[in-house]
This record gives sequence, structure tokens and C-alpha cells, in this order.
Amino acid sequence: MVDESPEKTEKTLLVVHHTSSPATRELLEAVLAGARDPEITGVVVRSVPALHATPVDVLSADGYIFGTSANFGYMSGALKHFFDTVYYPCLDAVAGRPYGLWVHGNNDTAGAAKSVQKITVGLELAQSAQIVEVIGPIDAADRESCYELGATIAVTVAGDL
Ligand SMILES: Cc1cc2nc3c(=O)[nH]c(=O)nc-3n(C[C@H](O)[C@H](O)[C@H](O)COP(=O)(O)O)c2cc1C
Repeated sequence: MVDESPEKTEKTLLVVHHTSSPATRELLEAVLAGARDPEITGVVVRSVPALHATPVDVLSADGYIFGTSANFGYMSGALKHFFDTVYYPCLDAVAGRPYGLWVHGNNDTAGAAKSVQKITVGLELAQSAQIVEVIGPIDAADRESCYELGATIAVTVAGDL
């Protein structure tokens, strides 16, 4: 019998972010620019605000980048809501998929980064780039780090083709 299911030729990279200010918007734009670098082919990049992302978005993607502000030493409530929503529907289905993370704060991002890592360990996602932690005003080096983050995860996702 001939398998008539359409061949999947493109992978999907899902960027789930809480972007609450011009500074955090700048970081998101840099991540997206890196992920959409024209030299990286075979990857569709979807950017979805954390309050709108669904289990279907997660299940239908091949890799992830999460972005959040640090709030009270934790990830933003919006990203926490995202993980609360998708965790059990996606558990066991996403193991081994690559992910990256950026965090922006004004004084200490360590707790926020750790809070995301705890959940990604539970989901068995594979951290595939160094976590980008940015404190205070955004400079060119921060934009570059975010660009690299986007490009690294996109290349990793494409490499699984
Ligand atoms: C309620 C609240 C809690 C915050 N908690 C932290 C925190 O624990 N650590 C930190 O580095 N920044 C904290 N911040 C600062 C935010 O991370 C920061 O405002 C956000 O990343 C956006 O950056 P911007 O204000 O420079 O645009 C907090 C901000 C708010 C509003």
C-alpha cells in the first residue's frame, strides 16, 4: 500500500514570549532576526505571545525558544500560565526537542532562568544553546546574544530534518 501522507519538508520553531516593554521587544526582535536568518533554510518560525500559545502550538512545533522577564525572582506570570496550560497535554510528546531561553530583568535573572529550566527538565526538552540573561538597558552585545540564540536553535531544529 502506498503511503499518501504528505511529506513534512519544513520544521517549525515556536517562539513563546512575554514581551512587556520596548526593551523586551528589542530582545524578541533580535531573537526572531537570528531565527529567520536567510541562510537558515527549512524552518518556519512562529512567534506567539505566552498568553495565547496553546498545547496544539507546542505539539505541532519541532523546537522552542522561550522569552520572559524576571518577576519576583521567577519567570513572568504569563509564561508560567503558558507552562501551566501546556505541561500535561504535552508531557511525553515533546521529549528530546531542542529549546533555548532568554530572560530580561533589572537586577537578578537567576531565579527566573532556573524556574523555566525546572519545567523544561520535567518536559525532557533538550537545552540547545546557552541561556541568555540580560540585565538593565539593552546594548549591541545583548542584541547579538539574542540573535545568536535564535540562529542556534533554528539551525538545531533544521538539522533534525
Ligand atoms: C512586579 C515586577 C517584579 C519584578 N521582579 C524582578 C526580579 O525579580 N528580578 C529582576 O531582575 N527584575 C525584576 N523586575 C524587572 C522586570 O524584569 C523588567 O521590568 C522587565 O524585564 C522589563 O524591562 P524594562 O522595565 O527595562 O523594560 C520586576 C518587574 C516587575 C514589574
